[in-house]
Amino acid sequence: MKLTNALTIDDLKKMAKNRVPKMFFDYADSGALTEQTYRDNESDFAKIRLVQRIARSLSNRSLKTTMIGQDVSMPLALSPIGMTGMQRANGEILAALAAKKAGIPYTLSTMSICSIEDIAEATKAPFWFQLYVMRDHDYVRNTLDRAKKANVSALVLTMDLQMLAQRHKDLRNGLTAPPRFTPKHIFQMASRPMWCLRMLGTNKHSFGNIKGHAKGTDNLRSISTWTHDQFDLELNWDSVAWIRDYWGGKLIIKGILDARDAKAAVKAGADAIIVSNHGGRQLDGAPSSIRVLPEIVKAVGDKTEIHLDGGIRNGQDILKARALGAQGVYIGRPYIYGLGAGGEKGVTRTIDILRNELDMSMGLCGERNIDNVGTHNIYSNDLS
Ligand SMILES: Cc1cc2nc3c(=O)[nH]c(=O)nc-3n(C[C@H](O)[C@H](O)[C@H](O)COP(=O)(O)O)c2cc1C
Repeated sequence: MKLTNALTIDDLKKMAKNRVPKMFFDYADSGALTEQTYRDNESDFAKIRLVQRIARSLSNRSLKTTMIGQDVSMPLALSPIGMTGMQRANGEILAALAAKKAGIPYTLSTMSICSIEDIAEATKAPFWFQLYVMRDHDYVRNTLDRAKKANVSALVLTMDLQMLAQRHKDLRNGLTAPPRFTPKHIFQMASRPMWCLRMLGTNKHSFGNIKGHAKGTDNLRSISTWTHDQFDLELNWDSVAWIRDYWGGKLIIKGILDARDAKAAVKAGADAIIVSNHGGRQLDGAPSSIRVLPEIVKAVGDKTEIHLDGGIRNGQDILKARALGAQGVYIGRPYIYGLGAGGEKGVTRTIDILRNELDMSMGLCGERNIDNVGTHNIYSNDLS
């Protein structure tokens, strides 16, 4: 299938499956344990219905809005995704370029393959950076210094991964970066020759923000080894205070799923919070993000900006999240599938599909400006 024939995110997912080695495709298409929360993120969106209105003026529609005060062409950002550069060679650079061209923010993960400096050099534009807090605070300070130097315009602090949840597929596949060269892994890669060729054309095969920047990381291969050794089991709101002070710029706190934590994040000085369960990859059995959004909006919606991620698979999901109080949303897997399917153009295709669906659905709801969308557009939010 050609990229231009892909009409849905699911089309891009099928293409990615045929183009990305199994271990890396599975890494994206997986959740923790039984994957219940991963499934709920999508299926709960599908339970929400929209109000249809007719005979309303629909010319000059606009999806433009702001996220943390930055202009965006639509209320969408790209999520931080570890090892994006294993879905496609130089994947982080390609995704960041597509986001820049689309006028939406790109968030680089701490666990990326391309480094902060690689993105700054390739895009020559501000981007967002996601921080995992390591026990080695020198590493954290050094990383924040690098981010400031690279013109990073917002720090996304992920708080829901002090421990790494078990994802069965990754363990079964023996996932590492760079990949191991066992017969099984060689077979998986050899069956995707274009992927291999592109990988041979880059020297970016390991964790660019960590390897060589943190102590004992010269032979870093496995995310799970690193997380077990370095992720801060004692991370708390005091840690957020010193990170916020050291950073000094816009701060977005990611991984909020409970109103009490939302209030604590506001108290800690978050400019925005992301209602998120890490795409169903951490606490399996936790509720979907869209399900808890209304209660979090009720608790802190007048005190901070609220974003959401998890389960956005079409433009209507963006509309629903926006109507229920999220100022903006993020996508993870949808753009990873686009990237695997067709590199930068594939990510652009992902964004275009979502933009078209959002615009069309907003118009059919009788709205012509995204900033006017609200709970009046929701027919039922009963997810039972
Ligand atoms: C393959 C993969 C890797 C991820 N890596 C990170 C990461 O490094 N840092 C982070 O904060 N979140 C990470 N996430 C979570 C995403 O940022 C985001 O919360 C999630 O993907 C949103 O759900 P969606 O994929 O349904 O859009 C990852 C998600 C996936 C699927």
